[in-house]
Amino acid sequence: MSDSTPTSLPVTPRPERARRHRQLPPGPSWHTAAWNTVKFARQTLSFLQELRERYGDLVTRPSVLGPWTLVFHPDGVRHVVQENHFNYRKGGISHQVLRLTLGNGLLTNNGESWLHQRRLIQPVFHRQRIAAFGRLMTESALAWTEETNIDTQQPLDLFQEMSGLTLSIVCQALFGTDMLVHKERVFQATSTINHLEAQAFYVPGLLSLPTPQRYRLYEARNTLYTVVDELIAKRRQASTENDLLTMLLQARDEETGEGMTDEQVRDEVVTLMAAGQETTSNALCWTLVLLAQHPDIEARLQQEYQQVLGGRAPQIEDLPQLKLSRMVLEESMRLYPPAWAFARSAIDEDEIGGYLIPKGAYVLVFPATTHRHPDFWERPDVFDPERFEPSRAAGRHRFAYFPFGGGPRVCIGNQFALTEAQLILATILPRYQFRLLPEANVVPEPLITLRPLITLRPRGKLLMTIHRQGG
Ligand code: HEM
Repeated sequence: MSDSTPTSLPVTPRPERARRHRQLPPGPSWHTAAWNTVKFARQTLSFLQELRERYGDLVTRPSVLGPWTLVFHPDGVRHVVQENHFNYRKGGISHQVLRLTLGNGLLTNNGESWLHQRRLIQPVFHRQRIAAFGRLMTESALAWTEETNIDTQQPLDLFQEMSGLTLSIVCQALFGTDMLVHKERVFQATSTINHLEAQAFYVPGLLSLPTPQRYRLYEARNTLYTVVDELIAKRRQASTENDLLTMLLQARDEETGEGMTDEQVRDEVVTLMAAGQETTSNALCWTLVLLAQHPDIEARLQQEYQQVLGGRAPQIEDLPQLKLSRMVLEESMRLYPPAWAFARSAIDEDEIGGYLIPKGAYVLVFPATTHRHPDFWERPDVFDPERFEPSRAAGRHRFAYFPFGGGPRVCIGNQFALTEAQLILATILPRYQFRLLPEANVVPEPLITLRPLITLRPRGKLLMTIHRQGG
C-alpha cells in the first residue's frame, strides 16, 4: 500500500520551468469553457478524475465565470487550508448569497472577526461537552425507529428519514426541550431555504436580485430568525437548560470577558443548524448503502455490536470499543465524503508546486477526488474499512483524507458528527437490516449549489426496505 507521504508536490512535470515563466497550472483550453461547464455539472466526479489523470494534481479549469484552480494533491490541499491559509479566504458569489441566511456565522465569516468567533465557540464543541448529548442522540434514534413505519415491505426514502433525524438532533442540542414547540416551523423554513439555495446555483441572480424567490427566502429566513430571537431572549432572562444555545450565550472572550451580541449568537445558531444537518445525514445514508452492498462486513459489524452491547442501547462510553463501526464510518466518508468539495479565494498571488496562483483565483479542493487518489490509496474504489486500522493508517498523508477539512477552519462540529453518526448506527443496526431494492441504482449526486457545504447525496430517492434483525 502506498499510503506514504511524498515529500514534495508532484503537480507538474516541469515545475522549474513553470516557476520561471510564471505559468498557470495546466488545463483544458479556453475554447472548451462552455462545454467543460456542462460536463462538470453533469459528470462531476468522473470529470474531475479525468482532469487529474490528464493534467496532473493542479489544474486550471476555464469556466464561464472565470478560471478555477483545482487542487487534487494532498500537499496542495495542505498548502491552501493550513500552511498558507492566511492567503485563502471564503468568498465568491455563493458566499454573498449564503450570507443572506447565515449572516456572519462561522462558515461565512473571515479574518479577525472569524478568529474571534472561532475562539469563543471552540470550547462549546469540546469533546467532553459533546458527550453530554450522547443520550439525546441515542434516544432520538430509538424514537425514530418507533415513529417510523418499520417492518413493512413498504420502501422508505432513507435520505428524507435521516435528514429529519439529524435536523431534529441538532435542533434539540441547540434549543433543548424548547425545540419541540417550534419543530414544524423550523423544519419548514429550513427546507424552503435549502430548496431555494439549490435552485439558485442554476439560475444566476435568483436570490441576489429582487425576485419572488428572494422574497420567499427572506420569509423563511425571518421565520427562523424569529424563533431563534425568541429563544435567545428567553435564555437571557433565565436559563436552566444545558443546551448549545445557553453555552453560546455564556461564552466569554478570555481577554476582555465580553460575550456575543444577540445578532451574532443568532447567526452562529442558524449556521450550526445549516452546517450540521445534511452532512451527517449523508454520511449515515452512504454507510447504510455500503453495508447493504457488503453483507459480509455487515455481519462482522453485527458481531461487534453483539459483543460490546449485548442487545442494550449504546452509550457514548461504548464508542471506543466499537472499532469496526468507526472504521466503517470513516471508510464510507472516504468513498462518499459528505462535503465533497470546498472553495477559497486567493487574497494575493501565490505559488503552489511551482505554478502561479493569481490574486483573486477561485481555488477548489476536493475530498471526493483526493480520497481516491491512486498514489495514496490502494484499490481506491474498493470499500475496505480495515484501511483505517491504526497500523495501516499510520504515516498516511494528513491531507489524503480530510472529510472535515483541515487547518484553522477544520469543521468545528466533527466530534459532534462522529459521535452522532456512530450512536445512531449502533442504535438502529443491531435492531434493523436495511436493504436496497433490487432495481436500485445508487449513484452519488454531487450537489453544486449555494448551500453552506456542497454535499454528496444519493441521486433521486434513496429507497430502502427495513427489516427486523433475524425477522
Ligand atoms: C459528517 C458530518 C460533517 C461533515 C463531513 C462536515 C464537513 C465540514 C467541512 C469539510 C468543513 C470545512 C469547510 C471549509 O473549510 O471550507 C466544515 C466546517 C464547518 N462545520 Fe462541519 N461537517 C459535518 C458536521 C458538522 C456538524 C454536526 C456541525 C455543527 C453542529 C458542523 C459545523 C460546521 C461549522 C460551523 C463549520 C465552519 C467552521 C469554520 O469555518 O470555523 N459540521 N464542516
